[in-house]
Formats: sequence, structure tokens, C-alpha cells
Amino acid sequence: MSLLHVQNLSHSFDYPLFEDVSFDLAEQKSIAVVGVSGSGKSTLLHICATLLKPQSGDVKLLGKNLYSLSDNEILKIRREDIGIVFQSHYLFKGFNTFENIELATLLNDTRMDSTLLKKFGIETLLDKKIGELSGGQQQRVSIARVLSKKPKILFADEPTGNLDSKTANEVMDVLFEYIENNNAALLLVTHDLKLAQRCNAIIEFKAKKEL
Ligand SMILES: Nc1ncnc2c1ncn2[C@@H]1O[C@H](COP(=O)(O)OP(=O)(O)O)[C@@H](O)[C@H]1O
Ligand SMILES: [Mg+2]
Repeated sequence: MSLLHVQNLSHSFDYPLFEDVSFDLAEQKSIAVVGVSGSGKSTLLHICATLLKPQSGDVKLLGKNLYSLSDNEILKIRREDIGIVFQSHYLFKGFNTFENIELATLLNDTRMDSTLLKKFGIETLLDKKIGELSGGQQQRVSIARVLSKKPKILFADEPTGNLDSKTANEVMDVLFEYIENNNAALLLVTHDLKLAQRCNAIIEFKAKKEL
């Protein structure tokens, strides 16, 4: 089943950013978006993840056309079906690891997944405040938080940008395993060609603007 279908998507700010982007993301599949800074990778991800409205072309998320969804329907999809991982983690600094993950599970009526915590090596960090964790640990907590709500589609914008390559690979292992075991899909923005090559397809964005 197609989880994300993008057809002839174009986007401009004060100049054309990208034109006629088309792809299809099916269950258990991953697509990497690569390209130089400023080529529109994050913009594409934001549109597909409902954070930015499409201007022209079609985006079908879980079989539903983005243009035809009400704001409430979009909120519901965002809360229940979509997981977004950013390079900076947006964890609640004053709370500990357990509380940060618990919050996501409460919002979605799911349970904290202890296998997931073990896989990420964060099961011993549950009572630690976010500020006490290293950058790599913080990112692992933030990804565990996103996966706890069992999203159908994962959007990840340079999720391993702040991690060393060993940790980055471990984090990606968990993401790939997650989409396989949960019939989910991954749209990954990355600078790392090696990581991109682990995906089923690569979309390359070219710079459109003279810098
Ligand atoms: N809301 C916005 N308004 C105007 N320009 C924007 C906006 N968001 C992004 N841009 C511009 O669009 C270009 C592409 O941005 P982005 O999608 O973040 O690229 P990438 O993720 O590939 O680095 C950048 O030049 C950026 O300044
Ligand atoms: Mg970006």
C-alpha cells in the first residue's frame, strides 16, 4: 500500500525552489532526499509531513489528498500517523527521559516499548534529566519518543547530523527495523551518502538559486 504519493509537486518562495517532484513511498520502504544546503529538502519534508501547505501538485498521505483534509483531520494525522525527527531534538529539558517518552505514549494511548528502550541503550537513563545526557543520547531519546507512538510514516530531517558515524548507523538500524516490523515507511533527508544508499530510492535535489 502506498503511504505517501507525491505527484508533480512544485514549490516557490520568492524564486522557484523545486519543480515536478514525484515519488511513491510504500509500506516497509524508505526514500532518501539528498542535495546541497538550500536546495529545498526540508521544505519537501515539511510539505509531506503537513507542516507546510503544498502550492501545486498532489500529495496523498495514507491515501488522503492533503488539499481535501480539514485542519482537524490534519491534526489527527499529525498526532496519530506521522512521526517527525529533526536534527535538533525538541525534548522537554526540565523533564527526565522517562517523562519525555511517556508523554508521547499518553498522547497516543500506546505503551512505552521496553525493547525499543533497550535497543537504543537508554533504558538505564530513564531518570536522567535531558540536560544530563550527551548529544547522542538526547537524539536517541527523541527518536525513541517518536517511535513510541507507532507512526505509519516517519519523516526524518538529518536525524543523525549531530551523531558520530557509529551511533548514526545504530540509530538508522533501529529506524529501518521499525519500518519493516510495523509496515511503516521512512522519508529521510540526509547529507550522508552512505546512509542514503541504505534506502530503497534516492531523490537528488539540485541547487536552483545562484548563491
Ligand atoms: N518560509 C520560507 N520563506 C522563504 N524562504 C524560505 C522559507 N523556508 C525556506 N526558505 C528558503 O528556501 C530554501 C530552501 O530551504 P530548505 O528547504 O530548508 O533547504 P535544505 O533543507 O535543502 O537546506 C532556502 O534558501 C531557504 O532560505
Ligand atoms: Mg534542511
